[in-house]
Amino acid sequence: MKGLILSGGKGSRLYPLTYTSAKQLIPVANKPVLFRVIETIRDAGITEIGIVIGSTGDQIREAVGRGGRWGVNITYIPQDAPLGLAHAVKISQEFLGDERFVMFLGDNVIQGGISPLIAQFANSEWNSQIVLTRIEHPEQYGVAELGDDGRIIRLVEKPKNPPSDLALVGIYMFDHHIFDAVKAIKPSWRGELEITDAIQWLVEKGYAVHPYIHRGWWIDTGRPGDMLEANDLVLEEIEYEIEGYADRDSTVGRRVRIEKGAEIINSVVRGPSIIGENARIVNSYVGPFTSIYHNVTVENSEIEHSMVLEHSEIRDIEARIQDSIIGKNVLINKSPIKPKALKLTLADNSQVGIL
Ligand code: G1P
Repeated sequence: MKGLILSGGKGSRLYPLTYTSAKQLIPVANKPVLFRVIETIRDAGITEIGIVIGSTGDQIREAVGRGGRWGVNITYIPQDAPLGLAHAVKISQEFLGDERFVMFLGDNVIQGGISPLIAQFANSEWNSQIVLTRIEHPEQYGVAELGDDGRIIRLVEKPKNPPSDLALVGIYMFDHHIFDAVKAIKPSWRGELEITDAIQWLVEKGYAVHPYIHRGWWIDTGRPGDMLEANDLVLEEIEYEIEGYADRDSTVGRRVRIEKGAEIINSVVRGPSIIGENARIVNSYVGPFTSIYHNVTVENSEIEHSMVLEHSEIRDIEARIQDSIIGKNVLINKSPIKPKALKLTLADNSQVGIL
């Protein structure tokens, strides 16, 4: 079996973070979402993985490389324009050949335990397996209608009146018949070749499409709120591990991971949270559900339920920072220069909430 990861999207709903970083490379609990996807596919026993890339392709190539770190071989497949998930399958035909494959959206985060399901498909008789989950707003996704016998009746992309609450999760398994399907379908109202329409075509032609209902959590990290939520859910599973250093004046909670070279000085760190490599937490409070990425400094400040990306500095801030996503190389500090005022240099599309 082969793996196909779609990482073409620009992530415009995540501006300004995605001006400088592909959305799939934003770390959730200190690990880029794309790396989590590669690990899930590798854990299913797959070593040949194709990654479909778009305008952020160079960054993805640089971050992922040839895959040796994970014991897999990565092939990059450039997509000229974001013409849909089924279009991505079409352009990957040469790479995939006649093998069965799993396709994963590179910005989806799913609770562990999905790897065996992928491995099972390799020896199954099904032509396709899709992953569904019950959600509150299915109209934003592909939606499946199942019969009383559990079989798929139909699939619709972003329906105004959803026939069920079963959304299509961004993990799909196919055999080579999907290539006939992607050639047969027409672009949708949004001008994209929809994978949902291609699977509907398989169903109509009588191919065996098996629906698996996932009962754990799943997040499509499209918007900033989703990022924080994914961060919360992954941190829930974190275990105590201290590879860095915490001095005797510090209190470190039970579900905290302190990575190599990180230093906690005279501070309180409550779990679940993670402090990245070579980060420095000095005279500060880091509250639950916080991910501090590598080389970040937090000094004389308090932060909780937030994500801070690499090389950023937070110093001498009296108000507690909460529910925040702070990008790379950001400096937040107290200004001694009069007048006493907020002095901001913000990128386009930034959002600041002031007390
Ligand atoms: C895509 C699919 C949709 C699926 C979703 C999962 O939507 O078209 O069927 O439910 O991914 O994340 P898009 O992200 O392109 O809006």
